[in-house]
Amino acid sequence: MLLPPLSILLGLAACCSSLDNGLLRTPPMGWLTWERFRCNTDCKTDPGNCISEYLIKTMADKMAEDGWKELGYEYVNLDDCWSAKERDSQGRLQPDPDRFPSGIKALADYIHSKGLKFGIYSDMGNYTCMGYPGTTLDTIDTDAKTFAEWEVDMLKLDGCYSNSSVKAIGYPKMSIALNKTGRPIAYSCSWPAYEGGLPPKVNYTVLGEICNLWRNFGDIQDSWESVLNIIEWYGNNQDKLQPAAGPGRWNDPDMLIIGNFGLSNEQSKVQMALWAILAAPLFMSSDLRTISEDAKYILQNKLLIYINQDSLGIQGQRIMQWHHFEVWKRILFNGQFAIAVMNNGTDGMPRPFATNLALLGILDCKEGYKIYDVLEQAFLGDFALDTTINIQVTPTGVVLLFLRPLCSFT
Ligand SMILES: *[C@@H]1O[C@H](CO)[C@@H](O)[C@H](O)[C@H]1NC(C)=O
Ligand SMILES: *[C@@H]1O[C@H](CO)[C@@H](O)[C@H](O)[C@H]1NC(C)=O
Ligand SMILES: *[C@@H]1O[C@H](CO)[C@@H](O)[C@H](O)[C@H]1NC(C)=O
Ligand SMILES: *[C@@H]1O[C@H](CO)[C@@H](O)[C@H](O)[C@H]1NC(C)=O
Ligand SMILES: *[C@@H]1O[C@H](CO)[C@@H](O)[C@H](O)[C@H]1NC(C)=O
Repeated sequence: MLLPPLSILLGLAACCSSLDNGLLRTPPMGWLTWERFRCNTDCKTDPGNCISEYLIKTMADKMAEDGWKELGYEYVNLDDCWSAKERDSQGRLQPDPDRFPSGIKALADYIHSKGLKFGIYSDMGNYTCMGYPGTTLDTIDTDAKTFAEWEVDMLKLDGCYSNSSVKAIGYPKMSIALNKTGRPIAYSCSWPAYEGGLPPKVNYTVLGEICNLWRNFGDIQDSWESVLNIIEWYGNNQDKLQPAAGPGRWNDPDMLIIGNFGLSNEQSKVQMALWAILAAPLFMSSDLRTISEDAKYILQNKLLIYINQDSLGIQGQRIMQWHHFEVWKRILFNGQFAIAVMNNGTDGMPRPFATNLALLGILDCKEGYKIYDVLEQAFLGDFALDTTINIQVTPTGVVLLFLRPLCSFT
């Protein structure tokens, strides 16, 4: 009989309790308005792209029709700029009447009728980041109740226009208020991003107990520079961030910008591969009505999604940096692993990289491993622990490997 690999034992022994709402045992997947559609409220001159019920409904249609839903992309989420500039006569948040004439409950019903889930946005502060009414300490209970009545499935709570003390009271208070509604509502907290993202200012034990996911770092923008900055920040601070993640509690490096304007095809693969390694939420923010086949091919990669959604929920780590190569490793269920080899260099041609399983610290199964190239969707063969693995990595590109042990651990 084989002993289970150490990694599995470590995985089952994973730390910390998580928010007790039973949600997001694997990272959430879906779509979010912000990166691509921002605060476009100009429905007069840009009716097809303004933040409106029309935009959300058409995106939900695409999610249901074009294979996204079956792959796990299930949340259709509004970000800032959905609300009216004033609360209603009873002090409740209300949608902009011109852009959401049917109301939010009807929108949620529509999304649910497609077998999808619906997320909304507010801000723990006097205003949202774009100047709409915020959730203040005295409106937390009202807003939680409103969202539950609308049958919202996720709340992203931003942190503009408040100070650290208000946030320290408000984020836990909203968690309790959501629980009290009796409706399971996944809770995304932007809190750590406003406090520098690192301990001791950020207490990840507390966050894991009150939130399902949290933004740690600045907003993603539509550029390679932005994606690379995020990857570097997560790598440089992994000792503090990696233990914070687990089932029901995720670090969120922000939306997938794949399918927009700023990334090449190779760079798009890097974002997707690294987000899989990081056990990151997969929220697309692109126009699903016009997205290219190349982008769709990357976003709909089943094996990559399988890696991202691994049930152990152990965030991966950077294990090596060498001449513009970065090697990242994630421990997966059943003795499996994912390895990403990123080339952050811009040296014109694909660069060779050679390694072997032993050098990657993958030694649990002495018989060796089957290795798959995830993005090329190719089987590379069976590898002994000391067999050389030769790969070529494009400039600002990545190779993502999936390793399945030749032994059985069950
Ligand atoms: C509220 O919290 C309790 C206790 O932690 C938990 O059992 C329950 O499932 C939670 N309910 C919701 C709707 O989150
Ligand atoms: C929020 O509003 C309160 C009450 O009007 C005010 O005291 C506080 O300075 C405001 N905070 C911010 C960050 O704008
Ligand atoms: C933070 O904001 C609250 C409410 O606006 C205010 O009462 C408090 O004094 C502020 N705290 C600090 C440290 O500025
Ligand atoms: C974080 O919060 C937990 C739970 O409240 C507490 O036990 C722990 O000491 C805190 N950690 C730090 C570094 O402040
Ligand atoms: C690129 O990778 C090297 C390691 O090979 C690392 O030292 C460097 O910080 C990375 N550069 C950027 C911009 O990410």
